[in-house]
Amino acid sequence: MNKRIAICPGSFDCITLGHLDIISRAANMFDEIIVVAMNNVKKEYTFTPEERVEMIKKSTSDIKNVRVDMYDGLLADYAAKKGACAIIKGLRAMSDFEYEFQMALTNKKLNPKVETVFLTTSAQNMYLSSSMVKQIVSMGGDISDFVPPAILGDILKKLSPK
Ligand code: PNS
Repeated sequence: MNKRIAICPGSFDCITLGHLDIISRAANMFDEIIVVAMNNVKKEYTFTPEERVEMIKKSTSDIKNVRVDMYDGLLADYAAKKGACAIIKGLRAMSDFEYEFQMALTNKKLNPKVETVFLTTSAQNMYLSSSMVKQIVSMGGDISDFVPPAILGDILKKLSPK
């Protein structure tokens, strides 16, 4: 039987425990997960694509069926190239929904073979976002409850106040 491959796309600027929770739950549902660092035209990035990928790799190294990649193009094309059957998105709150719904419908139009699957965030991660993490660390706050321990040093190196 064909492997069931799902894509977990995102900015991951930087990956948080919220992302990791979604990735590890998705890894229990599919044969293979490809976590892909992409570009969101609405965002300016703190970390380079290479840095984002490296941090995702360090954070997911103990999940056997996860691969990590970067792609600068359309998600629908990437999913087709990889033969994926699903795109996994995490939803934190209703405020995420409208935008995610629009993207899901657009991706379905561009690539009818791929389904978007929404996973609800775990309650403890409802409020968590990469931008919050960056704001806290740049003002000298403690982010150790918000990011995977393996990348704490990388974030502090780049963003903690000198
Ligand atoms: O973590 P983010 O910023 O919410 O992720 C959004 C992302 C990168 C998944 C989205 O912007 C995306 O899919 N970018 C790739 C380009 C693309 O396919 N755009 C059309 C989506 S409808």
